[in-house]
Amino acid sequence: MPKINIICGDAIEELGKLDSNSVDLIIADPPYNLGKDYGNNHDLKNFDEYLEFTTLWLSQAKRVLKKDGTIYVFMGVRFISYLYAILERELKLSFNSWICWHYTQGLGKTKGFSPRHDDILMFTKSKKFNFYLDNIRIPQKYYRSRNNMRGANPGDVWLFSHVHYCNENRQKHPTQKPEGLIERMVLASSCENDFVVDPFSGSGTTLRVCQQLKRICLGIELNPEYVENTNKRLAQKFTGFDSIDERMSRIPYDLNDEKTRNEYLRNHEKWFLNNHPNALEKFYKEAKVKYDYDYNDTKVETEMSLFSFMNEKI
Ligand SMILES: C[S@@+](CC[C@H](N)C(=O)[O-])C[C@H]1O[C@@H](n2cnc3c(N)ncnc32)[C@H](O)[C@@H]1O
Repeated sequence: MPKINIICGDAIEELGKLDSNSVDLIIADPPYNLGKDYGNNHDLKNFDEYLEFTTLWLSQAKRVLKKDGTIYVFMGVRFISYLYAILERELKLSFNSWICWHYTQGLGKTKGFSPRHDDILMFTKSKKFNFYLDNIRIPQKYYRSRNNMRGANPGDVWLFSHVHYCNENRQKHPTQKPEGLIERMVLASSCENDFVVDPFSGSGTTLRVCQQLKRICLGIELNPEYVENTNKRLAQKFTGFDSIDERMSRIPYDLNDEKTRNEYLRNHEKWFLNNHPNALEKFYKEAKVKYDYDYNDTKVETEMSLFSFMNEKI
């Protein structure tokens, strides 16, 4: 099987063809039943039909997931409580996190509060599961000797703006998700060569992220036009993911000791900006402004690292 593969078909049917206990990670962004136009399929079922559809594809997802596997499911506010009940009460999956994706901009309501978030539920098949925190840490705000300078847990409110129409990675798809958001899930819950499945792959965001992070990935998508566009997207040159958590390039205050500062700043790039060459310029500028630090001039003097105990954990 090729490392990155996309099938044009129905999620329930195609998941049904996969072996039980074979998938490490599922990232699912199903239609939210809000009437979106997905070309050859219209996202509007009656209420009970939608719940039945959700239960059916999730039952297959549970079956194919390995015992230590993880599933992330996106959902809008209208159906999130029903989704939670299906995952926990009907399918007896194990709750881990309720993530709020805060996207900062969107339509304005004149009566009521304008929606500014989607939710993502993270469940695992059992209590024994893999989670690689060191791969998704965010920089600390301050240097303190007691702080873990390798970074902090990013928390469960994730701020990523939508991929705007002016972004060069914007695809012809109405609900394209930011790559930075998917990157965090893939890094947190899988290793290189793990098997990742996205049953509603849309514009191919999960496939693109997995391609760059060296996972094996299968996408399933009902609309052949989106499948064709995904294949084009996968063939494009990579210049960095299309979005990043803004906190990734923040530089801690109080890095007053020169040796510690030099070493921290060297490591910062590797720890937090690995898949984001397009974010480096902003980071270098901030280092210059905050600490008059110049990347080309500064050399790390010894191999012996102040942060070596943290390096071992990467
Ligand atoms: C919310 S979008 C996914 C967007 C995707 N995460 C991205 O970043 O582009 C949902 C996708 O599911 C597809 N879809 C709808 N019903 C489906 C089904 N039964 N099986 C597979 N795909 C389906 C739609 O065509 C749509 O592209």
